[in-house]
Amino acid sequence: RVLAGRREDLAGRHVVVSAGGTREAIDPVRFIGNRSSGLQGYALARTAVARGAEVTLVAANVTLPDPAGAKVVRVESARQLRDAVLAAAEHADAVVMAAAVADFRPVRQSDTKIKKSSAEPDPIHLAKNPDILAELGEIRRAKREAYAAVGGGPAIGDGPDAARETRDGLGAARTADGAGGARETGDGLGAAQDAEAVGPGAVGEARAGATRDAGADGPYPRVIVGFAAETDDVLANGRAKLERKGCDLLVVNQVGENLAFGTPDNAAVVLTAEGGSVDIPRGPKEDLADVVWDLVAQRLA
Ligand code: CTP
Ligand code: CA
Repeated sequence: RVLAGRREDLAGRHVVVSAGGTREAIDPVRFIGNRSSGLQGYALARTAVARGAEVTLVAANVTLPDPAGAKVVRVESARQLRDAVLAAAEHADAVVMAAAVADFRPVRQSDTKIKKSSAEPDPIHLAKNPDILAELGEIRRAKREAYAAVGGGPAIGDGPDAARETRDGLGAARTADGAGGARETGDGLGAAQDAEAVGPGAVGEARAGATRDAGADGPYPRVIVGFAAETDDVLANGRAKLERKGCDLLVVNQVGENLAFGTPDNAAVVLTAEGGSVDIPRGPKEDLADVVWDLVAQRLA
């Protein structure tokens, strides 16, 4: 199925794919889950391996065989998925979030199996899970800002000149860290201060990290892809979601009519951050995966 021209176009690239659906524990034997089979995510992992990529597959509750050649990390809950994806994403060229992540989890997990003894069941109170895709977009945005701050030039990713400028800026920021060099560096000192004026948490770490790993390739991950299953106003909802989450590509499925869940076939529209869209007619999930990688490879080139 892989076309000749595609065969090695992801060689040297590290891609992260999440697949399956998270489970949010209620007690040791029960959970809140969803109908995701993991088929689309696994097809993405297989096709990426076939095209030469180094693949990390973060799999949530999938009962499919491991794709040959991929590194598989198994997780259960949204928070475990988040930790695994963010760790792998740090040095990834692309992240594709094909997993169905539970939006909510029970606030409290019972350590013991809940009994039906009482007449009225206790309600299950829910808390919001982290939005991993939005977080990836936010981390990258913060990194880009920090690159621009230490480089004093255009945001990274604008070409070789931008990369060179950022490398110079990084040097300046490092000098500014030393006691003596501060005055000499001028702009560099300001940039270093800007880069450090950050809040706590992952975004803050990302900003600090950006001053360390600035390189010709720019901030990682360079391409962020989301999936969205919609039942109505498919394109308008998809467009709003892409913008809200700051991703580069959003693969929008129309669900219902036996499409998507647990079936080998899928149909979708891929929306791009620039406002474009690519129609993928109904067909095997591997074909959809190959179109996604075509678009990713284009953006990495
Ligand atoms: N996603 C995520 N973390 C979450 C929820 C979703 O990373 N907590 C990712 C999914 O993996 C998918 C994309 O976001 O790539 C869109 O998921 P979707 O459920 O369609 O979006 P939501 O923002 O949760 O919106 P909705 O209210 O429609 O569920
Ligand atoms: Ca959701």
